[in-house]
Amino acid sequence: MSKNFYITTPIYYVNDAPHIGHAYTTVLADVLTRYHKLMGYDCFFQTGTDEHGQKVQQAAEKRGIPAQNHVDEYNVRFKDLWERMNIDYDYFIRTTDPDHKAFVQKCLQNLFDKGEIYTKEYAGWYSVGEERFFGEDELVDGKDPISGRPVEWLTEKNYFFKMSHYQKALIQHIADHPDFIQPEFRKNEVLGFLKQELTDLCISRPKSRLAWGISLPFDDDYVTYVWFDALLNYVSGVLGRKFKDGSDMWPASYHLIGKDILTTHSIYWTTMLMGMGIPLPQHILAHGWWMNGGAKMSKSGGTAINPIPYMDEFGVDVFRYFLIRDMVIGQDASFSDENFFKRINSDLANDLGNGLNRVCKQIVTHFNSQIPAPVLKDSAEIELEEIASNVLNSVLQFIPELKLSQAVEEILSLVRAVNRYLEIKAPWKLAKDPSDKDNLATTLWYGAESLRLALTLLQPVIPKKAAEGLAMLGAPATLSLSWNVLKGGEHLGEQKALFPRILVEKENQPAPSAKNTEDPKVIGEFRVCEIVKVEDHPEADSLYMLSVHDGKRIRTVCAGLKNSYSVEELQNRKAVLFANLKPAKIRGILSEGMFIAADGPDHQGILPDASGFEVGTLLQFDQSKPEPLASVKIKVFEKLDLKVHKHKILSEGQTLGLPGKELIVNAEEGAEVH
Ligand code: MSP
Repeated sequence: MSKNFYITTPIYYVNDAPHIGHAYTTVLADVLTRYHKLMGYDCFFQTGTDEHGQKVQQAAEKRGIPAQNHVDEYNVRFKDLWERMNIDYDYFIRTTDPDHKAFVQKCLQNLFDKGEIYTKEYAGWYSVGEERFFGEDELVDGKDPISGRPVEWLTEKNYFFKMSHYQKALIQHIADHPDFIQPEFRKNEVLGFLKQELTDLCISRPKSRLAWGISLPFDDDYVTYVWFDALLNYVSGVLGRKFKDGSDMWPASYHLIGKDILTTHSIYWTTMLMGMGIPLPQHILAHGWWMNGGAKMSKSGGTAINPIPYMDEFGVDVFRYFLIRDMVIGQDASFSDENFFKRINSDLANDLGNGLNRVCKQIVTHFNSQIPAPVLKDSAEIELEEIASNVLNSVLQFIPELKLSQAVEEILSLVRAVNRYLEIKAPWKLAKDPSDKDNLATTLWYGAESLRLALTLLQPVIPKKAAEGLAMLGAPATLSLSWNVLKGGEHLGEQKALFPRILVEKENQPAPSAKNTEDPKVIGEFRVCEIVKVEDHPEADSLYMLSVHDGKRIRTVCAGLKNSYSVEELQNRKAVLFANLKPAKIRGILSEGMFIAADGPDHQGILPDASGFEVGTLLQFDQSKPEPLASVKIKVFEKLDLKVHKHKILSEGQTLGLPGKELIVNAEEGAEVH
């Protein structure tokens, strides 16, 4: 199988400042390119600007400057943003480049000579905004159906490309290549469109109406229709370029586009290529839109979000992370500060940042900043290594399918597994007993090695932060997807707080909605219970095996509380159980639920004081209704953002307890609750 990868973004109109919608496609292409490089592909990534056409001419007129000056200035805005976002493209194409213009004219002449382009008189409703004619039946209330702006009746001679000739061949191509247009439902949309008869494509504009474009080589009174010109960038940009193995870059592996330009790509572009006898691209992938307040982000609609202030305040990588993690390719995604803060705090600050700090801090303190070599390999280590290997395999499978959001979620599941492993192994406790030194070394190596792999896998998404994290762990500079890369004796690098938590003011938080299924108060069944029996876990030194009465029955719960409480202290104590957690085997014992506990200064768990509540009571967050819920996986629980504020347990500004009676925990302000 060819290990070459040529990926493109749409070329952006230079009439506007770039916004998150533009940034998304470009980050997506960058991340995919970096993943493919990591997987050993030879890659070429092209982006650029679409500089002809009516929109651009109008933008220049508005500024009162020649179109060429306007585009020379505005394309730089995109280049600057890509530099700021650490976009590692190989070539930035501008449709005003002489090479591109020459190629467009060559293609036009070639099609004209073959009789694929003909001239005819055309009359119709013309929309200046959309730069195209509409049929009478396409108008909505007599206006342009896309922009809603007025249309005017125009009669003019134009040049047409025989697009209709290729309708059958295109349908056949789509049938023969089921993954040509992705996702599947977009392919069906195109096939639906192709059920009607295709008309021919008007590829010219009289200069009397639009002067800013590439002249038709066979009629100097006309310029080329901007889409015919723009689409050809994908080929003109790689003319004469070769991959290292000598093969041509065309056909592209992927055209990434937004869903609004699916027709131009899957119908205009593909039939143009057929007409010219050039092979079709391998895949066209249409992503959804970033929405702001329920509307597509757009400058004219006043809903465009400028990425720069976010990057200035919180950093480039966390912004890239959010874009990639929060849009499932194909679907729309919603941008809001709330979603952004939540995602960064839970995934990067809590899970990744904390895990890394925990491991590094212990290595600094107990091994003089040198990575310890693993000595033992017990079931916990086998399990963690297995999780790491499964995550790696899933990620490598998700990437070629372009399921980036899912890939990132997989990687985070490895990070969370490391945190769980650390809680079970409790290195801070092992450190207290010299006879546990081997176990401590093993625990820290396994924690560090798993985080090294997670950071390596996240590198395409957060290149700078991943490099810093890997340096903190003393990992070799060359990225490696293998296991067993960290070597005992190597020194840790500079230690820093990689992902500072974003502090969110309570009053800025939106009113919580009880309908949201991800809402903590809805998914969590926090039940007061009593510990009736305390035993050591037969297989894990750091765990207790507790028998717990939940008001109805006795359950077994494994808990890493040895560092915090003696057997006597736990006996007959009331605690709060996350009771609808999916039961899971912990080192051979089925554990049905988990105690909630605040993080103490030495990572010991501090149980809340539930003594004032009846056994079996279902606690709730402020106004939520207490109702038992279906069981949820640990992953879901880990996404809850529970914190101590004034000795109470808060989630999204709401307090856990009963109406008029809050649950109290004797932990420090801001402590995490796990
Ligand atoms: N110039 C054409 C593309 C020519 S490609 C041969 C164009 N330019 S654009 O600047 O208007 O849009 C470029 C891309 O940005 C499109 O893929 C579009 O879908 C994407 N986005 C613009 N707003 C968007 C969102 N709100 N969300 C996600 N992407 C969106 O079309």
